[in-house]
Amino acid sequence: MARNNHPEPVELLRPQNSTVTYPPCVVVIFGGAGDLSHRKLLPALYNLSLDGELPEKLAIVGFSIEDLDDDKYRAFARDGVEKYSRRKPDDEHWREFAPQLHFVRGSFTESTDYERLKQRLSELDAEVGAGGNRIFYFAIPPGFIEKCSEGLSAAGMVASDGDGFTRVVIEKPIGHDLASANDINERVARHFREDQIFRIDHYLGKETVENLMVLRFANAIFEPLWNSRFIDHVQITVAESEGVASRAGYYEHAGALRDMVQSHLLQVLCIIAMEPPRTTSADSVRDAKLDVLRTLRPFSPEDVERWVVRGQYAEGLVEGKPVVGYRQEEGVAAESTVETFVALRCWIENWRWAGVPFYLRTGKRLPKRASEIAIYFTSVPRILYNVRSQPLAPNMLTIRIQPDEGLSLHIISKDPGLQVRLHPVKVDFHYASTTPEAYETLLRDIILGDQTLFMRRDNIEAAWQFVQPILDVWDDAPVEPFMYAAGTWGPLESALMIAADGRSWRNF
Ligand code: BG6
Repeated sequence: MARNNHPEPVELLRPQNSTVTYPPCVVVIFGGAGDLSHRKLLPALYNLSLDGELPEKLAIVGFSIEDLDDDKYRAFARDGVEKYSRRKPDDEHWREFAPQLHFVRGSFTESTDYERLKQRLSELDAEVGAGGNRIFYFAIPPGFIEKCSEGLSAAGMVASDGDGFTRVVIEKPIGHDLASANDINERVARHFREDQIFRIDHYLGKETVENLMVLRFANAIFEPLWNSRFIDHVQITVAESEGVASRAGYYEHAGALRDMVQSHLLQVLCIIAMEPPRTTSADSVRDAKLDVLRTLRPFSPEDVERWVVRGQYAEGLVEGKPVVGYRQEEGVAAESTVETFVALRCWIENWRWAGVPFYLRTGKRLPKRASEIAIYFTSVPRILYNVRSQPLAPNMLTIRIQPDEGLSLHIISKDPGLQVRLHPVKVDFHYASTTPEAYETLLRDIILGDQTLFMRRDNIEAAWQFVQPILDVWDDAPVEPFMYAAGTWGPLESALMIAADGRSWRNF
């Protein structure tokens, strides 16, 4: 791991460009002229290129239905980089980067279009010397995944070993529930082997999430405390100030449990809670995560009622600006009961964590964008310094995923002076302000063929298995979500839920 503030990186588990050879390849983006490409993928590829972290022999091909050609696609990419990249386009570098971009117009359902794509890829392969290595990135609605996999297979574009590698990248959501996730995985598996499939959860590419493992397993001081003897409870918060924006079409069928909890929050939970993996290899890490998912206590219908809170934002003020409620957003049904907020309590039933509650909450239109893990340690005994009526605040480690990436250890210290006055203080570590975007890390790993930060099929299915009983209860007896004013920390019931355990949510 080299992306930290340390003056001399100690060991590079994830090698930097000076020590790594990127295999030549052609990256094909299905939905290449869509929103994800515009906002995330093309800017990420540009930033990798600026850092010299792309293969020398490379072609990037947008494949979609829009009426574009190579020049127009390059202009589209430039616009995306100007608007969304962490570094603005530099004219000199752009002249090097842009010729690598190409466009093939086609429909995902027409076999003749796959034939044209195949033809163009062979030409580009020969032009750049890509050796038949191909990455197919499905930046498309989930309903097309099967069709596109079949299309590639039928056109003979899924190479067998020896003809170069073929990798396929799939975005979340993978499925709508356990059965549909199994189904999609099954269908994709007809065309690609598991080691060819890269399922993205972009939280795993975030710098601080990746650093969680380093924090836990490259330091001696945390691991001995990382268990129910010293940890009272854990809170994971992923708060967004944005509303549903232009994604109502998708969100109306998803909601916060499917959109955020089933994927991002559970993945973060896994990294905090997992046992030390045997090695840093992709499968060891994913085995360790799977163990966590499989040891989560299943929710009974009574637990769902008591320990899972659904909320939906009503109109309110966010960062001083008035905003409409979810039901007034464009594309949202006037009576929609879809949740934009979830808070829940869960348990990991193993020796390390028995008796330690994990509280998860996520929501849209909360007061600010802040994703954070808070590890609350147990209190010191009520003797010596902890004898006043107001107990000392327990130690807490907070890990900020975003923004202001970093971590803080909250400890008790003596105020300077003649009297012994105790005061909570924070030992703070801030990450450098220019950490790579998650998609940069993930795209680079796909090119290198490293699956560590990607979700294995069994991990996805185990995560669905955990949320399925909640979905079942909500489906069986649909209830109105609790309303909360935009710009507040969710419905009152969320505070009441954690208060029932004698605890409270961390204030930001
Ligand atoms: C996506 C969800 O996976 O993550 C969105 O579909 C959410 O609803 C987004 O807004 C949050 O990602 P980030 O990186 O902005 O925290």
